[in-house]
Amino acid sequence: MDAKEKKRNAAKASLEFIEPGVVLGVGTGSTVNELIDLLPTVADRIDKLVSSSRESTALLEQKGFEISTLNEVGDVDIYIDGADEATKRLHLIKGGGGALTREKVIANAARRFVCIVDETKLVGMLGKFPLPIEVLPMAQAFVARKLVKLRTQPIWREGFVTDNGNHILDVHDMHINNPLEMETRLNQIPGIITVGLFAHRPADILLVADDSGTREMRA
Ligand code: 5RP
Repeated sequence: MDAKEKKRNAAKASLEFIEPGVVLGVGTGSTVNELIDLLPTVADRIDKLVSSSRESTALLEQKGFEISTLNEVGDVDIYIDGADEATKRLHLIKGGGGALTREKVIANAARRFVCIVDETKLVGMLGKFPLPIEVLPMAQAFVARKLVKLRTQPIWREGFVTDNGNHILDVHDMHINNPLEMETRLNQIPGIITVGLFAHRPADILLVADDSGTREMRA
C-alpha cells in the first residue's frame, strides 16, 4: 500500500466521528486533502465548517462547501487534521504545511481533536522532524538567536509567508523529551506567534493507518 492510500484510509476512518449536525474544523495538508475529497459523502451531517488555511478553504469550496469563520460558529465539535510527528501520548508536531497557528486555534476551540496519520508519523520522541515556529517577521532574527541559545538550529523557511503574513523558522536538532515543558518554554519568547508543538492541546484520538488497516489510539 502506498503512502497516499494509507492517508486516504486514515481520512476515511475519521468520517465515523462526524456526527449529524456537527460543526466541523478541517486541518491542512496532504492527509487532510484526502479527507476533503471524501467529505461530500457525509455533507448531510455537517452543519457548519471551519477551515485552518486558505489552501483547505479553496479545496473545500471546490467541493461546494460554504466556509464559516471561527468567530461565527463559536465552538467546534470536532477538528480533524494531520500531523508531522505523533507520539503514543498523542503529543504532536504540526506545521509542515505552515498552517500551525490557525490549526492550533481551531484545535483548542474543538471539543474533540481527531488526528489522522500514516504509520511513518508515529515516533518515540518528537523532534526529528524540524519543529515549525511561526514568528513575527520583525522579530525573526531575535527569536532565532534565542533558539540558538537553547542549542537548537533554526532555519528560516525562505520565501514562505503564512496565511497570517508571518514567517516560519524550522527548528532542527530538537530532542523533545518533555513536550509540555518545551511548549511552555518556547511560548515565553516574544515574537513567537505559535509553536508547532501540540502538547498542551494534544489530539484526543489518533488514527494511524498502516498496511494492515487503521488503528485508533487514545492517550
Ligand atoms: C500543516 C500541518 C499538517 O497537518 C502536517 O504538515 C501533515 O501534513 P501531511 O498530511 O501532508 O503529511 O500541520 O500545517
